Amino acid sequence: MKDILILGIESSCDETAAAVVKNGREIMSNVINTQIELHKKYGGVVPEVASRRHIETIDPVIDEALSSAGVTFDDIDAIAVTYGPGLVGALLVGVSAAKALAYALNKPLVPVHHIKGHIMANFVAHSYLEPPFVCLVASGGHSHIVEVKGYTDFEILGRTRDDAAGEAFDKIARVLGLGYPGGPLIDKLAKEGDPDAVQFPRVRMDNNSLDFSFSGVKTAVINYLHKLNQNGEEYNKADIAASFQNAVTDVLCEHTIEAALKTGNKTIAIAGGVAANSALRTKMTEQAGKRGIAVIYPPPVLCTDNAVMIACAGYYGYCEGDFADMTLNAVAALKL
Ligand code: KG4
Ligand code: ZN
Repeated sequence: MKDILILGIESSCDETAAAVVKNGREIMSNVINTQIELHKKYGGVVPEVASRRHIETIDPVIDEALSSAGVTFDDIDAIAVTYGPGLVGALLVGVSAAKALAYALNKPLVPVHHIKGHIMANFVAHSYLEPPFVCLVASGGHSHIVEVKGYTDFEILGRTRDDAAGEAFDKIARVLGLGYPGGPLIDKLAKEGDPDAVQFPRVRMDNNSLDFSFSGVKTAVINYLHKLNQNGEEYNKADIAASFQNAVTDVLCEHTIEAALKTGNKTIAIAGGVAANSALRTKMTEQAGKRGIAVIYPPPVLCTDNAVMIACAGYYGYCEGDFADMTLNAVAALKL
């Protein structure tokens, strides 16, 4: 059978990325131009600044994805692009580039949902992986528990009712004065701290729901620090980081394992930027292991935003003939 090569394009937030993936599973190239340095001084992503940088970098990033894969546009079977959710101005850059290429080259255009993309990173990282399994997708913008029933068949079992897990990491890193993005910095600092130093709340919406809420733990940490500051008391940042991370990862693990038990799935995958968190990986593996459930995750570079995951999702969309025409638009709040 002929190999299918998909060019994936991703520009939903602060990474301009392009990748070539063979048959949905084999990475031929993975180019990521991150804007982290650009947004650092603002303490978070500035949408207008992100869009402008995407415009400057999208063409060179696509060229590099092709050249490092050793292919030309002629070899590509379809172009897959993230069309939501994300920052609308940022998404539009990738969508416009993908539409222009699909039109000029007369190749199919495959629309990809960003969160589905994150899940698909697990198929690239684990060549034996097949549905069904339960996936926790936790990133800067989303926290979902999804049952992956087929390559294009997803059911949401739980989601955050307020902040995303990564958003809470970024906020707490900011109040601790660590910098941006906060997740990796908290992860690192927490290794030197006591995760049981402070008991921050583990919120459960209600017993029948697997939904998350992270605004409570975020506020609890902020109030705790505020009180210490007001009283002029010294505190150990590493202990706070470790205790906060412990509370968030406890909830992520408890709900995800419960979802796997409820649906009878024997595999849990984790995905999204927060899936790079070392404490989450260890805790989920240990706790699920006790229940006979295996835990898998992609390498960190495929957890945070990348285009390999978009090309992988694009491959399965391509196989189903899920093509978009030139009316494809960016959708900031695209539903799963
Ligand atoms: O998936 P992603 O790159 O972008 C979105 O789709 O949002 O996720 C970025 C988020 C940020 O909030 C970042 O702080 C978080 O993932 N993150 C982490 C870690 N690495 C990235 N959070 C916790 N621990 C990490 N090691
Ligand atoms: Zn993402």
